[in-house]
Amino acid sequence: MRALKEISSLVLLVCCGLTCHLSAQNQSPCCKSIEKSACVQALPVYADVNQPIEARVEDALARMTLEEKVALCHAQSKFSSTGVPRLGIPEVWHSDGPHGVREEIEWDSWSPAGWTNDSITAFPALTCLAATFNPRLSMAYGISVGEEARYRKKNVLLGPGVNIYRTPFNGRNFEYLGEDPFLASRMVVPYIKGVQSNGVATCVKHFALNNQEEDRMHIDVEVSDRALHEIYLPAFKAAVQQGGAWSIMGSYNKYKGQHGCHNEWLLKRILKEEWGFDGAVVSDWGGTHDTKEAALNGLDIEMGTYTNGLSTGRAFAYDDYYLANPFLQLLKSGEIPVSVVDDKARRVLRLIFRTSLAPNRPLGRTVCEDHSRVARQIATEGMVLLKNDQSILPLSVKAGQRIAVIGENAVRSLTKGGGSSELKPKYEVAPLVAMKAAFGAKNILFSYGYSSGRPLYDKVEKAPYDADSLLQAAVKTASQADVIVLVGGLNKNNSQDCEGGDRTEFGLPFGQEALIPALAALNKPLVVVLMSGNAVAMPWLKDAGAVLQAWYTGSEAGNALVDILTGAVNPSGKLPFTFPKRLEDNAAHSFGALSYPGDNVKQQYMEDILVGYRWHDTKRIAPQFPFGFGLSYTSFELGQVTASAPSYQAEDVIRLTLTLSNTGQRDGAEVVQVYASQRKPSVSRPVKELKAFQKVFLKAGERKTVTLDLKASDLAFYDEAAKAWKLENDTYTLQVGTSSNPSKNKVDVTINAASK
Ligand code: GLC
Repeated sequence: MRALKEISSLVLLVCCGLTCHLSAQNQSPCCKSIEKSACVQALPVYADVNQPIEARVEDALARMTLEEKVALCHAQSKFSSTGVPRLGIPEVWHSDGPHGVREEIEWDSWSPAGWTNDSITAFPALTCLAATFNPRLSMAYGISVGEEARYRKKNVLLGPGVNIYRTPFNGRNFEYLGEDPFLASRMVVPYIKGVQSNGVATCVKHFALNNQEEDRMHIDVEVSDRALHEIYLPAFKAAVQQGGAWSIMGSYNKYKGQHGCHNEWLLKRILKEEWGFDGAVVSDWGGTHDTKEAALNGLDIEMGTYTNGLSTGRAFAYDDYYLANPFLQLLKSGEIPVSVVDDKARRVLRLIFRTSLAPNRPLGRTVCEDHSRVARQIATEGMVLLKNDQSILPLSVKAGQRIAVIGENAVRSLTKGGGSSELKPKYEVAPLVAMKAAFGAKNILFSYGYSSGRPLYDKVEKAPYDADSLLQAAVKTASQADVIVLVGGLNKNNSQDCEGGDRTEFGLPFGQEALIPALAALNKPLVVVLMSGNAVAMPWLKDAGAVLQAWYTGSEAGNALVDILTGAVNPSGKLPFTFPKRLEDNAAHSFGALSYPGDNVKQQYMEDILVGYRWHDTKRIAPQFPFGFGLSYTSFELGQVTASAPSYQAEDVIRLTLTLSNTGQRDGAEVVQVYASQRKPSVSRPVKELKAFQKVFLKAGERKTVTLDLKASDLAFYDEAAKAWKLENDTYTLQVGTSSNPSKNKVDVTINAASK
């Protein structure tokens, strides 16, 4: 009898509980029979979006079992990690990449899932964004790509990448923000804020020292503390402390003998303890190699390249991941305290409450006019005019004149390939298509000129074109035109601009170095357009009347290129990395194999802090084109710079003022750059370092007063002995210019750091 009574009251409780939950407001009849509080508590704290996040995290954590906490810490599929099904806490969906939302991938393999509703807007590569030197565009970029990730129901967008450009061979430089830590820091913060304004997390990568693809899975990078803090960490630090990044991706390579994905110094001491990072650390795919290190050194979510987390795929093996059952066993045995998994679970829950369980998230949207406009604006503002003899550009083609468009990159998709940042765009306007639309198809001739290895067959003889016949065909075509536009550069093939390997040659590939002079021999205006993400050798520079660095610019590539070639948009991009004349002029390639690519086990960054223009300045090696350089169709003049005071203390802001005039006939934009150098440092320092920049738009003939603020504390260097930044009392010269070339426009200021 008693059992029956108990069952009936249990049934009553369950049914009422359910009813209450479903209709907490209108007090269903049975609720009167239960404590009012039972009805009021229908919504647990973690599920109540009006509760503070930390209260929701703690409430959820308190309800979770050990197994559920461990499950949060590893993948359940190729691009998702577990939530807490029993509590209704959703799983976490991760997706590449920095330039757009990757197509859906199969649950358990790298193969595309073949969906028909996952095409997106392909935005320009981040190197192009860096070249805009325009943080406002970076915000627009983040908002737009974040909207597309939100619409595709992604919680974590695996980007942006901010690894510093150390060698022109790195296959993934196109994904990053260039060689200067200050530029990268300024450009990454708005992107992060833009993406995360959609309730989508960024996952800033690859933390840290992943500056090449050669041996990336294991190379042990040796670098001084000073270079680590002055060159390789600043963009990540800005991402965390100014951008508020919600997740960080560990790098494959090692540092101090430990893999980046579970590195005590990088993840525990610097990222979480020193910088106060409260988000989740995600491993690179297959970047986890040890359970104890992963548990104790700050990894929070292990994602896998294969279902055993490392090398081979087999039937569901996510439970074998290092942070799965092996981790659970160490927790159960007491060898690892539960507090360790609690910390990880808190960070993953916080990620979930900031994304899928966040209140009032925007809806997101994808493939819309706004996104196309943003993509096109970033592309046109990022393209860098390197040479323009006799103002060949903008093109002035008279009626009846014809343009020969030569080059495989005029027709080839450059959003496919390249590795994990590859995209399936809804559309991608090729340069040839846009040129025909702009100038009339009958005025445009085309020839491949070169081929990146895929056989091109002669229409008549069905014989594959070889390099020489491609060249001859191109010369023949070009001879019938009045202007020649070569659209070449690199591409996303292996050993070009592509993940997983580095370039093996510094020159342009596929026979372009022979093609350019052959075209030049026709004595017609020749424009060379480089679609690439890396510096290249330019033995042919004298042969080209104009050279445009056009990057990888995604869906709007052709339209943006035509905007610049026709003058619809005046180019204003600036190089985010140095173009050396010869590979051996580059710092990383000046110290033998141990410096680059390493000896297959370890690698030493022997140039230390002298990366990029810092090297060229200090070693007095003239570059082909310097960092920060870019021409315009108009001309600008800088007035003499003045400082707001003769001396400053550590916490002061130094305000520089100067006039900028557009002395030409076209509206345009210039990037005013401030480089600082210390007069008598107690340690060796680069000749100068970028410490402020501002992009200024001026109408033809317009003059503006420009002010640039820089923090006196930004003039410090990292003191290895003190393990802290040090600002020395001294005189500092602040040079103002429109590139990193030497400039006489300077002002000296004195720092009395400790005078208070
Ligand atoms: C790759 C890349 C990383 C990417 C991840 C998922 O190996 O290194 O950038 O986000 O795996 O595709």
